[in-house]
Amino acid sequence: MSGLTRARKTAVVTAAVAAAAAALLSAPTAEADTRIVGGTTTTTSAYPFMMQITDASQNQFCGGTLVSPTKVVTAAHCMAGETPSGVRVVGGRTYLNGSDGTVAKVSDIWVHPDYTTATRGDDVAVLTLSTSMPYATASYVGSSDTGVYAAGTSARILGWGTTSSGGSSSNQLRTATVPTVSDSSCAGSYGSDFVASDMVCAGKTSGGVDSCQGDSGGPLLIGGVLAGITSWGEGCAQAGYPGVYTRLTTFSAEVTDQVRS
Ligand code: ARG
Repeated sequence: MSGLTRARKTAVVTAAVAAAAAALLSAPTAEADTRIVGGTTTTTSAYPFMMQITDASQNQFCGGTLVSPTKVVTAAHCMAGETPSGVRVVGGRTYLNGSDGTVAKVSDIWVHPDYTTATRGDDVAVLTLSTSMPYATASYVGSSDTGVYAAGTSARILGWGTTSSGGSSSNQLRTATVPTVSDSSCAGSYGSDFVASDMVCAGKTSGGVDSCQGDSGGPLLIGGVLAGITSWGEGCAQAGYPGVYTRLTTFSAEVTDQVRS
């Protein structure tokens, strides 16, 4: 609880600094009041597979998706420096400051063996829970489902992340929809940091809707099926810089190996 308070104080200071910087630049454009998950608030009742990844004090730092009662898919970069004993998975908790839902300890963290940094790809991890989550699971894409990413397809993102670049986290779970972006367009935005085999981009050309810090590890759903993992981006919700998500079809077989293990 004191940890949560500390985190929130830090977030408030960060927001104040960001606001001051925005005022100095006198650029009160859409960016200043952009809500990542620009869409709407939602609940874990509506998305029961949506998990908070937290530290041992239940301070959320990433999202994750429940794909079996004891397996959670998240981003490898979320697990940097983490050990099973320092991580918890919290299900059924819509609000960061809630105490409801189910808290599970983690018995194993699998990080993709080739992962180095998010911009090099392989940004996928699977957590094994010590106890089962009593929530509906999400299904995830198979390795041959590559057609789901066709440019312009509506994809849903979810998370408790910051509601603007450099802003503070959202106490309530939020969701938005963003169109997938073609690989050539995303390469145009990000150059060689965009690895098409391992990543897929989603966002409106005009920006304004995106995932942001703290949303990482959470789902990109296409047709209700887990198809991507929130990974990285240049700022958040900037025009011309869509969000980048792990292309789960590439890692589907490896995830299945972990889900069955
Ligand atoms: N790396 C961020 C995290 O750890 C996610 C950033 C997503 N950025 C974006 N513009 N979509 O939470």
